Amino acid sequence: MAYFLAVANRKGGVGKSTISVMLAHAFSAWGHKRVLLMDLDAQSNSSLILLGGSQWIETQRNSKNVAAFIEDRMYALNPIADYLVHNVGDVTDAQGRKPQLSLLAGSLAFEDMQDELITHYSRHNTPFRQAKLKCANHFKQALGFAAPLADVVIMDCAPGLSNATAAALTMAAKVVVPFRPDAVSEYAVDRIASIIEGKDYDGVMAIPPEKRRYICVANAVRPGGRDGTIIDTIAFNHPTLATQVPQSPDVANAFDWSEERQTMEEKYGTSITPLRELYQELLVSLGAV
Ligand SMILES: Nc1ncnc2c1ncn2[C@@H]1O[C@H](COP(=O)(O)OP(=O)(O)OP(=O)(O)O)[C@@H](O)[C@H]1O
Ligand SMILES: [Mg+2]
Repeated sequence: MAYFLAVANRKGGVGKSTISVMLAHAFSAWGHKRVLLMDLDAQSNSSLILLGGSQWIETQRNSKNVAAFIEDRMYALNPIADYLVHNVGDVTDAQGRKPQLSLLAGSLAFEDMQDELITHYSRHNTPFRQAKLKCANHFKQALGFAAPLADVVIMDCAPGLSNATAAALTMAAKVVVPFRPDAVSEYAVDRIASIIEGKDYDGVMAIPPEKRRYICVANAVRPGGRDGTIIDTIAFNHPTLATQVPQSPDVANAFDWSEERQTMEEKYGTSITPLRELYQELLVSLGAV
């Protein structure tokens, strides 16, 4: 049964999609796990990184994407397997083979579909809070059907707090919270920690760090003192990986899907070292995956 890992932060542009894909590549190419990445963001960035543009368009045309799956589950019991794309990504493992990496592609229809879902569950004058809860349960149940199909499921969450993200945060065994060291990041991490643990700030702080269901990772870190000070403050209050992902053109370039498969070293260039450290440290922190 799959280990469900969410990658989330209410703040946008902090590296959720980048780190989701890095981890998907690492678990499949290095860890030889069956990995499924679920793109829960209408922007579909992780889908584009794993598929390239034309294959992503194909997933919209043939309704093989997360919005179609969740919508169809309102009326029929279509299996999630029908909506997955296999052998995605543009890397090989050390033996030159395709890693077992699958994708539930994102869709621009995802937000409209979530509105439709809430309308569906608001019938018969159901109170809004109750309808929202039913929505989150719909997501949880639908996405949970992926459990037998993978060893690791990585859920790339949208910024903000959609019903899909709320479901992902509750069903994840662990939530990876990437942050960029800036003035907002401390508040953003405090906030998502409260949502994940279902407690106010003091309630979260009362939980021993090793018992918390989330782990932070500093991304796009620049050399020099300022970023370090912000990271130290966050790490003082929240479980944070020692590994930091530097701000690097090699990380940014890994956003581009390449038609030719490459080795992990070719794909990630100089950022292969922090990626290796991130993967190894996360493995220890997750325990049994
Ligand atoms: N360590 C890094 N070094 C350089 N560029 C980075 C790094 N991490 C992310 N980026 C770039 O920053 C941009 C935002 O990253 P990404 O899309 O992964 O963030 P996100 O949190 O998923 O954003 P969104 O909230 O829009 O979903 C991308 O262009 C990505 O290539
Ligand atoms: Mg993203």
